[in-house]
Amino acid sequence: MSSPNETWAPTSWRQKTIRQNPSWPDAAELAAVEGELRAQPPLVFAGEARDLISHLAAVADGKAFLLQAGDCAESFHDAAADSIRDKLKIILQMAVALTYASGVPVLKVGRIAGQFAKPRSEEFETQGDQVLDTFRGHIVNGEEFTAAARRPDARRLLAAYHQSASTLNLLRAFTKGGFAALSRVHQWNQEFVEGSPQGRHYAEVADDIERAVRFMRACGIDMARESSLSGVDFYTSHEALILPYEEALTRQDSLTGNWYDCSAHMLWIGDRTRHRDEAHVEFLRGVHNPLGIKVGPSTDADELIAILDTLNPQRIVGRITLISRMGHRTIETALAPLVQRVRDEGHPVVWACDPMHGNTIRADSGRKTRRFDDVLSEVKSFFEIHRSLDSWPGGLHIELTGDNVTECLGGGSDLNEADLETNYTSVCDPRLNASQSLDLAFQVSEFLQA
Ligand code: PEP
Ligand code: CO
Repeated sequence: MSSPNETWAPTSWRQKTIRQNPSWPDAAELAAVEGELRAQPPLVFAGEARDLISHLAAVADGKAFLLQAGDCAESFHDAAADSIRDKLKIILQMAVALTYASGVPVLKVGRIAGQFAKPRSEEFETQGDQVLDTFRGHIVNGEEFTAAARRPDARRLLAAYHQSASTLNLLRAFTKGGFAALSRVHQWNQEFVEGSPQGRHYAEVADDIERAVRFMRACGIDMARESSLSGVDFYTSHEALILPYEEALTRQDSLTGNWYDCSAHMLWIGDRTRHRDEAHVEFLRGVHNPLGIKVGPSTDADELIAILDTLNPQRIVGRITLISRMGHRTIETALAPLVQRVRDEGHPVVWACDPMHGNTIRADSGRKTRRFDDVLSEVKSFFEIHRSLDSWPGGLHIELTGDNVTECLGGGSDLNEADLETNYTSVCDPRLNASQSLDLAFQVSEFLQA
């Protein structure tokens, strides 16, 4: 088993058992692509990852709240500026409502600029008498059910890198160039509240925020010039699944000599690859980025502690975020013992709630969907359980888009199964659309204040 003292190198995961690994048909091509990626600039800097750890340490201490959100899977067909902007816009709007309600800073982390790889339950997909590789996200193959599209193609690693670079470039411009100013984001929230039937329920919260904004102005705060009000810090994250890609973007920081995976600020490990003595944990234990670990209903407490000992032997506060994704019923019994055990073992963690992945169902049409009410119910239980244990419910992890999609059921606009056919564009899991996302944020705000 990997012990903290065992030698680590960016390549040491190659000696371990690996799950969810595409069967790359052309090893020479993959090696050539890895070489090309190694020659590219990093997407993020070590210092930024360190800043994020210090912000996450504040979350672990109950002094900040984490909002991590974005696509289930980013798509090579959708790199348009508008859709990146609209996703950012929704995340900023949610963050304002949550900041007001929680009374603490909200740390914004996107599932964006690199979230291209998908772990899958089945290795193959069968249609009629044809059996093909499963779709694993655009960094690996195409979603169309043809032999050509489903063949893993190493050149896609380069395409993912370039799309991540241009997405991140735009995000950096939007978040520092005035687009994210508090007064603007608040204005959008007022438009949601005034302009939609579901928004009207939240008039009270919006009025309270309006009063706070007016108060700041009256005190002489120049909202356009005050940098904390005119721009925001925004960080990127994705599941570290395709290890040749992650390895190639792993660089040694000249300041500290530590290794950082410079493909994103934060990386997480999925519910299907969080095995202690296997490749994904081995890779992540050596990089110094903040890490997320998905914690699903099958999580064994002893195993979780062993993973924490491996990934955070020095118990650095802010290094680990545990993202529980139990399902709205299972959370009632499964979460509390894990929270208690992690605390008893003295592991400092952020606890965040992913109310999406334990609540996926199939509509009669066969489409994957989620009920807004199940999502909300899991979030509500998450808050109640943490409160009852005197633990800080540190964050939310959401799959969403700023587009007007019809992928999840219910929410303010009350989408039903027939509506799923209208605009279902996700290449993987169903996402909350813009108004469902705001609906969620405002509802959470209400019970944060309760
Ligand atoms: C995801 O976050 O998209 C995902 C696949 O989650 P999990 O590993 O929790 O199933
Ligand atoms: Co998903």
